[in-house]
Amino acid sequence: MEIEDEHRPDKHDPASVGDSTWAVHGGNRVDEGSGAIRTPLVMANSYRLPEDPAAMNWSATDRPLYTRNGNANQAGLERKLAAMEGGEAAAVFATGVAALHGVFFTLLKSGDHVVVSDVTYEAVWRLFAQLLPDRYGIEATFVDVADLDAVRAAIRPNTRIVHVETIANPTTKVAGIRELAQIAHAAGARLTVDATFTPPPLYRALTDGADLVVHSLTKYINGHGDAMGGAVIGDAETIGRIRHDAIVDVGGVISPFNAWMIMRGSVTLPLRLKQHLASAERVAGFLAGDPRIAFVAYPGLPSHPQHDLAREQFGGRGFGGMMAFALAGDSATQNRFVGQLRVITSAVSLGHDESLVVHVGPDARGGSEHYPEPFLRYGHLRLSVGLEDPEDLLHDLLSALDRTEITP
Ligand SMILES: Cc1ncc(COP(=O)(O)O)c(C=O)c1O
Repeated sequence: MEIEDEHRPDKHDPASVGDSTWAVHGGNRVDEGSGAIRTPLVMANSYRLPEDPAAMNWSATDRPLYTRNGNANQAGLERKLAAMEGGEAAAVFATGVAALHGVFFTLLKSGDHVVVSDVTYEAVWRLFAQLLPDRYGIEATFVDVADLDAVRAAIRPNTRIVHVETIANPTTKVAGIRELAQIAHAAGARLTVDATFTPPPLYRALTDGADLVVHSLTKYINGHGDAMGGAVIGDAETIGRIRHDAIVDVGGVISPFNAWMIMRGSVTLPLRLKQHLASAERVAGFLAGDPRIAFVAYPGLPSHPQHDLAREQFGGRGFGGMMAFALAGDSATQNRFVGQLRVITSAVSLGHDESLVVHVGPDARGGSEHYPEPFLRYGHLRLSVGLEDPEDLLHDLLSALDRTEITP
């Protein structure tokens, strides 16, 4: 079946269309077999071999062969994400953690050193505090990445990677990507950035000098809390190595179904993000104004230590949809409050359509000794502001506060 060029949405040049147009059309292709205008879900493990497959490279990723090496749904999502983030190429994985591990596994070897933000997602903390040093002799220094002198001082001759989160989970510390990229590059190292809290079009760390950007697709990019995935975006040569080493040979491949789900979820990313950002600013302002709240960590508040940096770095588009706060009370107080919420759901994860809150005790997370003082005193409630009507979220928080007995 011959299909006219203008009906092939992937032919859009991402540089010449807006973010929402790319989010709708990017990575999608008309299916030659059926004429369907959306890439169908291809649930097959294996693909037709050539007449003489005897000398074929079983690790090839440039032709349909085996779904661990590549698949139409995976490839479409990779094309979409690469352009969305402003990179040459992307590799998608089964989860965000698989993507992070894929980067470290591919780029590091025994004897290498990594400078890591002293606040990171729990699994990254464990990888660098225990697993990679103990098993593979990789050294890591945890450092306050808001203190650029401390980052410079932590660099060693064998430093290969500086790894940060644009906005750190859970304290919301903001990393200044431009300066950190300069420091890493001056030392011959790469800057790898977990941008899960700041998906495009909110921010594109590659344009500020990051070498590789990682996302948990499970969060904002899918956005509906029903599929897991991860992605690494960067230059084509490095992404090719990561794909070969960490997907084909280690196997953290995304299922075609999840890639298809995430492709669908990501269509509304720019639209959803606007609401997440606007509602989060209102919620943070509301919480910060209530005397029963001990602290609110949100980069959009003037009280946040990197508020000015965040405004400049994210171009005034917003400050993310994530915050941490606590009531001025003990651990039982925090639980009572969460128990009174009727709209906001107590569950892990973030960036979903529904608002999610999780109560974390003062020392319940690896590396929590590096958290700011109020996190150590009260613990924290990590809140992912969702897509409900913001008035309903404010009302839910206020009524729960009113119904919570606060014990010091
Ligand atoms: C900043 C950050 N990076 C990575 C991950 C891991 O993603 P996944 O659960 O998809 O493995 C998370 C999960 O919460 C996260 O918050």
